[in-house]
Order: sequence, then structure tokens, then C-alpha cells
Amino acid sequence: MISWDKTAIINVAELDSQHQRLIALVDNLHQAMTSSRGKSVVSHALEELVGFTRMHFDTEETLMTRHAYPDYEQHRKEHEALLEDVGRLLQRFREGDVLIPFAIELDLEAWAFRHIATSDKQLAAFLNTKGVF
Ligand SMILES: [Fe+2]
Ligand SMILES: [Fe+2]
Repeated sequence: MISWDKTAIINVAELDSQHQRLIALVDNLHQAMTSSRGKSVVSHALEELVGFTRMHFDTEETLMTRHAYPDYEQHRKEHEALLEDVGRLLQRFREGDVLIPFAIELDLEAWAFRHIATSDKQLAAFLNTKGVF
């Protein structure tokens, strides 16, 4: 189980609150899996997490294009790679592999902390120079 860590704050309010929600949804998935509340609860938590992740990436990509972020392509590729990875896992879960949510949780958790601490932090520093906080 993970929790929101202040070191992950990047200083752009909208993105910080989305990251916080993202981590809450990973926790939520963890709860759903460990409390054995059944497949539909896990499935719901999983779909919600993946859906929110997509929405969050859209938010960042919109900000990057709006402010002509120079590292847009690289950053977008990192988002895309994660979504492809998670999309493949989600497909296997829908096909009946019940252990998949654990893989997605671990994947997203590790990925999110790494990505937020590096790529998102860089993006936020750039946005700050454009007056976006
Ligand atoms: Fe990002
Ligand atoms: Fe992010």
C-alpha cells in the first residue's frame, strides 16, 4: 500500500491534485484486491484507474502543446508506453487472468513515482516559467 508523498509535489496545482487522485486510485485498487470483494469491484477499480490515467495524460499533453514545451515528444512517448503496457495487461484481465490487477498496480506505482519525480517535475518547472502554477 502506498500513500501520497510530499516529495512528489511538482508545483502546478492541477497536476498535483491529479497525481494525488491517481495515487488514491492505485490504493483503491489495492484495497479492492486485498479485501477479496469480488471480481466486479476489482474490475471497476481497475477501469477507473486506467481511465483516470488517460485523462491525466491528456491534461499534461494539452498543457505541453499550449505552452510549446520543447520536450513534448519525449514526454508523450513515456505516457504512450505506459498506456500500451497497461492496455495489454487490461486486455488479459478482461480475458480472465485474475492476477493481472497486481501487475498493473505494481507497474503503475513504480512508473508513476519515477515519471512524476523526473519528467513531470521538468515539465512543471517549465510551466512555472510560463506563469502556470
Ligand atoms: Fe507526465
Ligand atoms: Fe503526471
